[in-house]
Amino acid sequence: MNELSKIAAGNITAPNITAKVLDDELQVTYPTEAFLSRDYLEAEKQRLWPKIWQMVERETDLPDPGDWLTYNVADESIVVLRKDDGTLKAFHNVCPHRGRQLVSVPDIVPGGVHSVRGNMRKNFVCGFHGWTYDLDGNNTYILDPQDWKGILTPENTCLSEVKIDIWGGYIYINMDPDCVSLKEWMGRAGEILDHFEIAKMRYKWRQWAIYPCNWKVAIEAFLEPYHVAGTHTQLLAYGDYYALSKQYGLHSVSSYDTREAKFQMSESSGTTRAGKGDDPRVSTYELIRENYETINFAASTDTLVKAASRLVDEVPEGTPPAEIIAHWMASAKQDDAARGVIWPEVPPEIMAEAGLAWGLWPNQNILHGVTFALCYRVRPYGDDPDKCIFESYALERFPPGEEPKTEWVHAEPTGENWGSVLAQDFSNMEFVQKGMKSSGFRGPIPNPHQEQKVLNLHRNLADFMGMGVPRLFDGKWEKG
Ligand code: FES
Ligand SMILES: [Fe+2]
Repeated sequence: MNELSKIAAGNITAPNITAKVLDDELQVTYPTEAFLSRDYLEAEKQRLWPKIWQMVERETDLPDPGDWLTYNVADESIVVLRKDDGTLKAFHNVCPHRGRQLVSVPDIVPGGVHSVRGNMRKNFVCGFHGWTYDLDGNNTYILDPQDWKGILTPENTCLSEVKIDIWGGYIYINMDPDCVSLKEWMGRAGEILDHFEIAKMRYKWRQWAIYPCNWKVAIEAFLEPYHVAGTHTQLLAYGDYYALSKQYGLHSVSSYDTREAKFQMSESSGTTRAGKGDDPRVSTYELIRENYETINFAASTDTLVKAASRLVDEVPEGTPPAEIIAHWMASAKQDDAARGVIWPEVPPEIMAEAGLAWGLWPNQNILHGVTFALCYRVRPYGDDPDKCIFESYALERFPPGEEPKTEWVHAEPTGENWGSVLAQDFSNMEFVQKGMKSSGFRGPIPNPHQEQKVLNLHRNLADFMGMGVPRLFDGKWEKG
């Protein structure tokens, strides 16, 4: 019996891993089917993607009435558009007559079209028999309707609407008419990130690739900083990388911390923290510059790097690290204000809770600062569990009118295209996908403290999927 028929037969046992199990940092494992199995990928098409709030695009990509784009995930295609009254609307991209896609969306191929989009849209005319729809999805034209002898109604000939909402300047959709609100879905994670006013940030660059691993392997590569010591070894020269991670219901956060105070997030738990070394004025600059230059000028800003470079001149030797950070932030804030970039006021307790990076379940990552965000989003690619559509983009707070014009750029996953740090991540992902297929692999045992975001991903996936269910692990694998 394959997994799909087990679901149909109701043979799936309920997941037993609760949020508390993760809070207590008990060891959890889960099967590899979520990454490898075609049945699982098929089931995602029914149980996951049509049931969840998912990010479509930045709202700024649809600035004017008549602007539209398609969002495509697994077998689903959604048309998202801005209406004349300025509101957003979303429909399934399918004609109710005989099921032609209303807007033709070719398969995504490397180097091909990232997403079908356009503007000045007044209506949608189906290319097959010419049925026509206005921007509210109402059917406005049918050839020879009398042939149906009166059974055609506005309700059975209109487009199928999809829920749409905005958070953080992102457009989100949910295909499930009975879903919870987006606000409820975002929960505490949304409340915390709201303080960073991500809605006011704009694209700095955006890139995509088809990458040879499952979408979950890809997102997991950016969920936890536990891999920094093993993967990004060059960064150890500038900072310690002890990670903290914590579930927030659906979503989860990670941060840096010290091994000594391991259960406490500190104010410098994000990217703006002191470097290690004898002189933190110097190492703080070296840490942020290294991060900035090797992660494609994304995980910081020019302003922050330049302000850090002046620390050695502006702060006396021997100043405690916390004061160095405070000075750095104050002077960068002043520099930005002078060029018209106003920082949001993030209360210290929010700053501490906000950590380094959020995993917004299931497929969106945001590594945030007060003036920037480095983000990832992944989706499955075709019917191949070994491939994904991988996207990364940088957001930044720009002076009004100085936002760069950007578009999605296809970029092969190399260091030249993505920066040397991402290239190091790429050098793992493909081989995690391969390695998990080994008959000698016992099963994943993520670090319950530092890789809790990975466990939380699978805990929540199991709730929707009823497959790949995690379980407590006592350290003994069953002989099999
Ligand atoms: S399928 Fe669209 S008009 Fe026939
Ligand atoms: Fe990494």
